[in-house]
Amino acid sequence: MLDGRVVIVTGGGRGIGRAHCLELAAHGAMVVVNDLGVGVRGESADDAAQSPADAVVAEIEAIGGVAVSDTGSVADWAAVAAMVQRTIERFGRLDAVVNNAGILRDATITSMTEQDWDAVLAVHLKGTFALTKHACDYWRAQYKAGQPVSGRIVNTTSGAGLVGNFGQAAYAASKAGIANLTRTTAMEGARYGVTANCIAPIAATRMTAGTGHAQSGGGDGLDPFDPANSSPVVAWLCSEQSGWLTGQVLRIDGNTVHPVDTWTVRPGYTAAGGGRLSATEIDAALRVVMGVAPAGLAALRVR
Ligand SMILES: NC(=O)c1ccc[n+]([C@@H]2O[C@H](COP(=O)([O-])OP(=O)(O)OC[C@H]3O[C@@H](n4cnc5c(N)ncnc54)[C@H](O)[C@@H]3O)[C@@H](O)[C@H]2O)c1
Repeated sequence: MLDGRVVIVTGGGRGIGRAHCLELAAHGAMVVVNDLGVGVRGESADDAAQSPADAVVAEIEAIGGVAVSDTGSVADWAAVAAMVQRTIERFGRLDAVVNNAGILRDATITSMTEQDWDAVLAVHLKGTFALTKHACDYWRAQYKAGQPVSGRIVNTTSGAGLVGNFGQAAYAASKAGIANLTRTTAMEGARYGVTANCIAPIAATRMTAGTGHAQSGGGDGLDPFDPANSSPVVAWLCSEQSGWLTGQVLRIDGNTVHPVDTWTVRPGYTAAGGGRLSATEIDAALRVVMGVAPAGLAALRVR
């Protein structure tokens, strides 16, 4: 499915990203395994003999695949530009990017520090945009030069980004931003041969340790929290075949892939007087429109 295609995967050294790299390589892609090799909060990890990115490159080479490692941070604009440049110099092309790198700094709003907020947004939201921007610059230039382009961007959101989550203001805001960045990228990229889609995976990784997402080894052959469960969808999204789908969020839950709807504008209330809405009519109007026990409140997870 991916013979001859070149794909960059960020955060490809561990967890879900590692599984994507192995799946992509198994389908014939040449893979740039990017990973900064940090702890789950983005802190410096212990000096390991081999970086996570190098370890995944070795795994891919062991199955006869082609891969190179990159140990820059996705939050570093210049490092991401250099990674794209090196990829094109090394392989002569770039076909897809998978924005997967991530960290967590969970804290309630009252406990959140400015540093934690900035760190989470830098890796997830700025990091996703940085690789999107540098890859799109390349694809647009190729298109303008008359070259065929089938650029693919695969972003990573999460349940927190789609519906919010207690204690994850920065993470949820980043992931919601990524979902909406995906739609905007899809609108712009369509002009020069680029699609952008987003996955919302669920997996047992160090990021979800303690949340009840435990890998079970699945007696029926399916482990609902295997980090590799979303990788087949990512492989397809990186292929030429997926060119008809763009601007979508796909949730992968075990062995089921669900399209996710965007925010929906529901039937509303129009000002009684014909002019602007009056503040005095809003309370009664919204009680009617939303119902006395608003469905939205029932869905909120409050702890
Ligand atoms: N695990 C889940 O259930 C779940 C659910 C929804 C979304 N996600 C998302 O999936 C992605 C992968 O998560 P995971 O569970 O595999 O976590 P993980 O911690 O196992 O892997 C994340 C990897 O990203 C790397 N990384 C962190 N900061 C980086 C940076 N600045 N530059 C480059 N690499 C960096 C880390 O070194 C690590 O190897 C994340 O974006 C996460 O938010 C995970």
